[in-house]
Amino acid sequence: MSGVLITFEGVEGSGKTTQMRRLGRWLRAEGHRVECTREPDGTRLGLAVRRLFERPGVRPEPLVEVFLFMAARHQHVAEKVRPWLARGRVVLSDRYADATVAYQGYGRGIDPDLIRELNVRATGGVLPDLTLLFDVDPAEGFRRIGARRRDHFEREALAFHRRVRRGYLEILRAEPKRVRLVRAAEPPAVVAAEVRALVEDFLRGA
Ligand code: TMP
Repeated sequence: MSGVLITFEGVEGSGKTTQMRRLGRWLRAEGHRVECTREPDGTRLGLAVRRLFERPGVRPEPLVEVFLFMAARHQHVAEKVRPWLARGRVVLSDRYADATVAYQGYGRGIDPDLIRELNVRATGGVLPDLTLLFDVDPAEGFRRIGARRRDHFEREALAFHRRVRRGYLEILRAEPKRVRLVRAAEPPAVVAAEVRALVEDFLRGA
């Protein structure tokens, strides 16, 4: 596989989605062939998974959440990520394997090692080459989201989101070469410059 996979992670309201689009435009202008995708809804099956969480009366057990995100991930890798990497693309994914470790592991209390094992199977070993962790206090993240209608996870208490943030920071501590911290509370233009610098640096060495 000759492409590279760059993933974007962080708590709600961290600005990762906007920054990913911005980076995608910049990389294309620099002459890279870029594909932008997301989890869980990067495929039609994944979109169905996302919608399932919003159905009235549907309350998946924490382990069921893990299985649903893993199912969406396996489909996403098979349908999109692996073929793109084989064609040498720079693949940008808004959330990927670390999200399940942070949300279902640290947030919901499922054993993170079990999730890591399942991630290896679900991704078939297609792990990110670089992960940008958009770090912000969840309270600040929610201030940014404002009054828009909140989804299943956004409706969780702040304490849940603080555990998720702690989980992401643990992942960073364990893999400081792959995972790079982005100070997401800075103004968007400053964050964009930091993201570009990290990615440029990475691509130069890739
Ligand atoms: P978002 O990326 O638009 O915020 O939406 C994805 C939501 O799904 C977000 O609340 C985090 C949640 N999620 C998990 O809990 N586990 C996962 O593995 C993934 C991919 C997402």
